[in-house]
Amino acid sequence: MPSLFLLLAALLAADVPAQSSAKLRRPLPDEFGRVVIDNHSGKAGFAPVVFDHWLHRAKFTCRLCHVDLGMAMKAGGTDIKAADNIKGFYCGACHDGRRIAEGDRKIFASCDKPLAHEHRAVCFRCHSEGREVKPEVDFSTFTRAFPRGRFGNGIDWEKAEELGVIQPSNFLEGVSIARKPLTVQNDFELFPRLQGMPGILFSHKKHTVWNGCELCHPEIFVGVRRGVSKYTMVENFEGKFCGTCHLKVAFPLLDCQRCHSEPVQ
Ligand code: HEC
Ligand code: HEC
Ligand code: HEC
Ligand code: HEC
Ligand code: HEC
Ligand code: HEC
Repeated sequence: MPSLFLLLAALLAADVPAQSSAKLRRPLPDEFGRVVIDNHSGKAGFAPVVFDHWLHRAKFTCRLCHVDLGMAMKAGGTDIKAADNIKGFYCGACHDGRRIAEGDRKIFASCDKPLAHEHRAVCFRCHSEGREVKPEVDFSTFTRAFPRGRFGNGIDWEKAEELGVIQPSNFLEGVSIARKPLTVQNDFELFPRLQGMPGILFSHKKHTVWNGCELCHPEIFVGVRRGVSKYTMVENFEGKFCGTCHLKVAFPLLDCQRCHSEPVQ
């Protein structure tokens, strides 16, 4: 039997994400999905790097970065170095000063050889943690026309994609390999092991749009047969299984009814 006490403890812990008391609050809509990367910057005398998911996921699928570009699903886990970016890996796969952002505007370039500590404005666009850097793309202006959601970024990303408000690209010229898409499995219901708890309709189709197959199989879910992966809500709150994405980037676990939406059996 799952322990409701543990679940409650996990819930409370989820609402108190950081160690420091200054962060005893939920992230603001524009902060949800923010990753601060500081394996090397601080040591090199540069400000840590700030990466926002909201802007990038409006333009690209999760799969593109997390599979084709090899970004880890864990803050700091990729161990990106300036030299990688200069060679065109990771951030530098797009931020090379040549690829097109919009119209004829080019995506600004990433790291350059740090000529001593030559601080250029373009460097601060990413190396911005703790500095007063005004982003060029403003969150509220950018997302004004997006359908609203209750938690996370305050955006219903699923609907935004469905309505075509955003068209996240799943392919990066020169990096991605064109493949024939695999057949998408049917939607199915997951039954929580607690009587009276509404079931969950899991849509393979909707998830595949963002994640392809490879982001979930076989690392998060083996996926050979339904029911093989056994897990509880507590494990979701620990950032495993559904929680791999639905804690920090996709709508968060606090939005119980968005998953537990099926009538009680
Ligand atoms: C598109 C984002 C981006 C931009 C723009 C950018 N960087 Fe970086 N840079 C990174 C990331 C990501 C890292 C890895 C951060 C970490 O782990 O501390 C990094 C790390 C570094 C490091 C740490 C040492 C090392 O070997 O990794 C230096 C130095 C550096 N960048 C220099 C620069 C300089 C100089 C500029 C401006 C010409 C610049 N960067 C612009 C993303 C960027
Ligand atoms: C433009 C590239 C890009 C896109 C698109 C993208 N991510 Fe990420 N994601 C990253 C990077 C970079 C990191 C940080 C990796 C690091 O620090 O080494 C990250 C980290 C994460 C993390 C860990 C966050 C944390 O705080 O530990 C999760 C979860 C995640 N991404 C999920 C997603 C999901 C879900 C989507 C699609 C809705 C998505 N990502 C789209 C680049 C991307
Ligand atoms: C798949 C392509 C892609 C990858 C990979 C990528 N970016 Fe971006 N990034 C973009 C695009 C496109 C924009 C929007 C640029 C524009 O509109 O001019 C952008 C914008 C940004 C901005 C916004 C700056 C502002 O002033 O509003 C930051 C910061 C940024 N990226 C950091 C990063 C970092 C750090 C990484 C690596 C960890 C990274 N990006 C990886 C495509 C990418
Ligand atoms: C967001 C994560 C996610 C994505 C993306 C995803 N799956 Fe799955 N898949 C699951 C889950 C969860 C299960 C059920 C696993 C369990 O219960 O053990 C599953 C089960 C399966 C099964 C077993 C089905 C059954 O009825 O027994 C197959 C086959 C499968 N997936 C194939 C795919 C293919 C092919 C794709 C891409 C087109 C894909 N999956 C994309 C999460 C995902
Ligand atoms: C690899 C990342 C990932 C994993 C793992 C994942 N999801 Fe999602 N899920 C997403 C993204 C991205 C969306 C789009 C909406 C958003 O980002 O808020 C989404 C949307 C949804 C939606 C709304 C769309 C719909 O079907 O109506 C539901 C419900 C959902 N997920 C349930 C689940 C459940 C249940 C699991 C675990 C069995 C799971 N997800 C695992 C990334 C993931
Ligand atoms: C991203 C989708 C998602 C969200 C959001 C979500 N759940 Fe769940 N929940 C699941 C899945 C998947 C299971 C496990 C189903 C199974 O047993 O295979 C589950 C199981 C449960 C169970 C059964 C006991 C257990 O631990 O497995 C309870 C109780 C529960 N959830 C409560 C909640 C509550 C309360 C919330 C909101 C705070 C919530 N859930 C939000 C997906 C979700």
